[in-house]
Amino acid sequence: MRILLLGSGGREHALAWKISQSEKCDKLYIAPGNAGTASVGENVNIKVNDFEGIRNFCLDKQITMVVVGPEDPLVNGIYDFFQNDAELRGIPVIGPSKAGAVLEGSKDFAKGFMQRHGIPTAAYRTFTQETVEEGIFFLKTLQPPYVLKADGLCAGKGVLILPTLEEAEKELQEMLGGMFGGASSRVVIEEFLDGIECSVFVLTDGKTYKILPEAKDYKRIGEGDTGLNTGGMGSVSPVPFADKAWMQKVEDRIIRPTVEGLKAEGIDYKGFIFFGLINVGGDPKVIEYNVRMGDPETETVMLRLKSDLVDLFEGVATGTLAEKEVEFDERAAVCIMLVSGGYPGSYEKGFPIAGIEDVWGSIVFHAGTAMKDGQVVTSGGRVIAVSSYGKDKSEALEKSFANAKLITFQGKNFRRDIGADL
Ligand code: AMP
Ligand code: GLY
Repeated sequence: MRILLLGSGGREHALAWKISQSEKCDKLYIAPGNAGTASVGENVNIKVNDFEGIRNFCLDKQITMVVVGPEDPLVNGIYDFFQNDAELRGIPVIGPSKAGAVLEGSKDFAKGFMQRHGIPTAAYRTFTQETVEEGIFFLKTLQPPYVLKADGLCAGKGVLILPTLEEAEKELQEMLGGMFGGASSRVVIEEFLDGIECSVFVLTDGKTYKILPEAKDYKRIGEGDTGLNTGGMGSVSPVPFADKAWMQKVEDRIIRPTVEGLKAEGIDYKGFIFFGLINVGGDPKVIEYNVRMGDPETETVMLRLKSDLVDLFEGVATGTLAEKEVEFDERAAVCIMLVSGGYPGSYEKGFPIAGIEDVWGSIVFHAGTAMKDGQVVTSGGRVIAVSSYGKDKSEALEKSFANAKLITFQGKNFRRDIGADL
């Protein structure tokens, strides 16, 4: 197969690493990729939302499968773009249709979907500028802290958790007033759920699904889960509380009703579903849906997936996923994210990265890196994911932390407490 993978982060390097190990993959291109993906495939300079550019490339290089990493092109309808083009229709796109991507693209739609299909989630209501007074009244019926969510995509910044009613009222007005542009013209207010989070992933061909290894992500910049939210500072898999009994609840109450709900609503969905879950007193509830893999979860999930990923993608594309087996690696996997100084606030780019060649016993996934005059340099907030296997979490963490110290660049920061809460 001749595969084009879209994206340029640590998630895409991990996907590319896994795809390139498949006997079924004859050629792998990554658009636009990063300095790391270039070591497992060929980078091509096309942006993920440049559908015409992607079209021409696919026809020119006789691509036989497109795998979509980030949510943006999915929400923009890349699946439908291929379906509606006579020349592209035969090339399967791994990722949902535009209608399916709304599960991530609109929090209000996702909440309504869960309500329609009896999927456990926080109680909520949605408000607009016209109903702001009702929104304030609704806030008064809730207990603090208050959870406000912009309806649309905000690059991970659209959720505010506020300790006082005063702040919640003020932020509600600012959000509806255009704080996140059109993305916050509708705001979901929901009940705060107290518990530990867990990311669960499935692949679906629209008929059935296969559950992939779960992972826990560490979102805050500071140790002890303090400070601002980031894209994710590290991940661990497996997650101890996600045992057989808990995962059975997840499958029965959340995964199966979701896949069946998509089918019942006539939504074309062939790709990953990412369930952002929270464990409330032993019961899983959905915090959010994403229509792609998680980052940095992919940097541990791919280590623990033993099966051939391209073979699973083939099952997704041809509607034969039921015939495929998913095998997990019994070992633990962890990932430590090295980030730029200042991230998630403002930070400088272009610093040379040294020591990658000294790493031993870990797998280095590039996130925000670029090549400049033959030198790997920083080019994003999250720079490098150091992933490791271990017989258990502690052994894997030991390796990742040792190697995290060997890789150096100006301003490097990372959390030393990844996995410590589990
Ligand atoms: P989201 O963008 O929906 O994943 O929200 C970002 C983060 O906010 C989540 O990962 C949770 O840590 C937190 N969060 C979102 N919704 C809730 C909720 N209802 N209760 C508690 N925490 C929440
Ligand atoms: N790690 C969370 C996400 O990818 O959204």
